Amino acid sequence: MKTAIHDDAPPAGAAAAGAHLLVIDDDTDLLRLLSMRLRASGYRVTTAETAEQALARLAVERFGLVVSDVRLPDRDGLALFEDIRRSHPALPVILLTAHGTIPDAVEATSRGVFDYLTKPFDSKALLDKIARGLQMGNPVGATDGAACDQAWRDEIISHAASMQTVLDEARLVAASDASILIRGDSGTGKELLARAIHRASRRAEAPFVAINCGAIPEQLLESELFGHMRGAFTGATNAHTGLFVSANGGTVFLDEIGDMPLALQVKLLRVLQERAVRPVGSSRAEPIDVRILSATHRDLEAALADGQFREDLFYRLNVVSLTLPTLDERREDVPLLANHFLHVLNRKYGKRVRGFAPEALEALATASWPGNVRQLQNVVEQACALSTTPLIPLALVERALRVRSMEALSYAEAKQRFERNYLVQLLKLTDGNVSDAARLADRNRTEFYRLLQRHALTPSLFRGEGAPVASEQQKE
Ligand SMILES: Nc1ncnc2c1ncn2[C@@H]1O[C@H](COP(=O)(O)OP(=O)(O)OP(=O)(O)O)[C@@H](O)[C@H]1O
Ligand SMILES: [Mg+2]
Repeated sequence: MKTAIHDDAPPAGAAAAGAHLLVIDDDTDLLRLLSMRLRASGYRVTTAETAEQALARLAVERFGLVVSDVRLPDRDGLALFEDIRRSHPALPVILLTAHGTIPDAVEATSRGVFDYLTKPFDSKALLDKIARGLQMGNPVGATDGAACDQAWRDEIISHAASMQTVLDEARLVAASDASILIRGDSGTGKELLARAIHRASRRAEAPFVAINCGAIPEQLLESELFGHMRGAFTGATNAHTGLFVSANGGTVFLDEIGDMPLALQVKLLRVLQERAVRPVGSSRAEPIDVRILSATHRDLEAALADGQFREDLFYRLNVVSLTLPTLDERREDVPLLANHFLHVLNRKYGKRVRGFAPEALEALATASWPGNVRQLQNVVEQACALSTTPLIPLALVERALRVRSMEALSYAEAKQRFERNYLVQLLKLTDGNVSDAARLADRNRTEFYRLLQRHALTPSLFRGEGAPVASEQQKE
């Protein structure tokens, strides 16, 4: 059977080193001619005769640019463009139009189509437009994704097409100063991507400062972000430089932004609007120049709907949104990641585990990964730590999979973590009243204070209304 899609390898020594183009036209003669010319210019060309074929190809492969006829048998080229833009917003599309469809084409460019050409056209014009389109898609100036500088994303291990799409978009927006909201389930690599974007940006040499908005008590968060003056509130014995100031010239990563309290959302919005921060207790604002990346695993639209997240702040943070696929959605990455983690862990544990037994790898590839890459990392770590053979056997993988995402913490680390959480819960329960908290814990006050000190916990920060806490000291 003749297949309608032909994939042509580039000729040896091709000039453009294989940028990959998708060419869509139902005129098979023109299609053959075009792909011949493009291949002769060194491009790698995949062809499709219908919109459906094109979309099927786009779902599994990575292209640098699309050339498409406006009239396709199964769909209008513009409708196809809309579909492409939804799934691949950074992919340049050039439309080929016949006489009489020029107004459509002009409208298309206003809707974001990169460019158009009217048939008949000469191949020089097409080649020029393609070269420009590819340059736009690769702001570093490389026409080939594989050949362009990949160091920025070295730590992100993946060969899934869905990840590649996110990485292409990330690379594209990294060059700008646009605020980016990174979404994705827990453990999908949001922080890793944020760091990579920073590395790919012009701020790479300046600091990258990350803060987890969900892990810091509300009253402390403001002073952590914006700093405080000496004496700004009880316990502020020294002035403190906030993260925004420390990150000046660089990038601030606001992790778990969905957990930021509403009162602080207002203040953050003001900082972003005025490009200046005012430390708690200070009347002077300091100008700052930072790029904001934020991340959340929460449904922020739902938080907007029930008033838990400010709409104006949301739009400011979400100029560009990147969503990382879950590991279950890119299962093809499981073996690659598992072997990568094994390699890293061998070094950490001084082991010489060579790999996984085939059944063990299969078990990993077919397992469900609600905890995503982090969970896979933990499973590999347990299996590697316990393995006594060069190949990790199925039984060890099965055992690690059963003990779901338990981190390989040492006893001391686990105890420390438990103790801290326990103390925080007690202080929350008693509104920061140490006597009550000590009584509940069945410890005397002195002993309890010592425990709090060991974990650097300040009871006054857990007090409710009327307490001398950071956010209330700042005079608006
Ligand atoms: N593609 C990847 N290649 C290599 N390591 C990865 C990849 N994705 C994630 N990891 C690793 O998995 C762990 C979790 O990643 P990260 O902390 O970036 O996820 P996250 O989305 O921020 O998770 P959470 O929502 O729980 O904070 C990290 O140790 C990270 O290095
Ligand atoms: Mg994270």
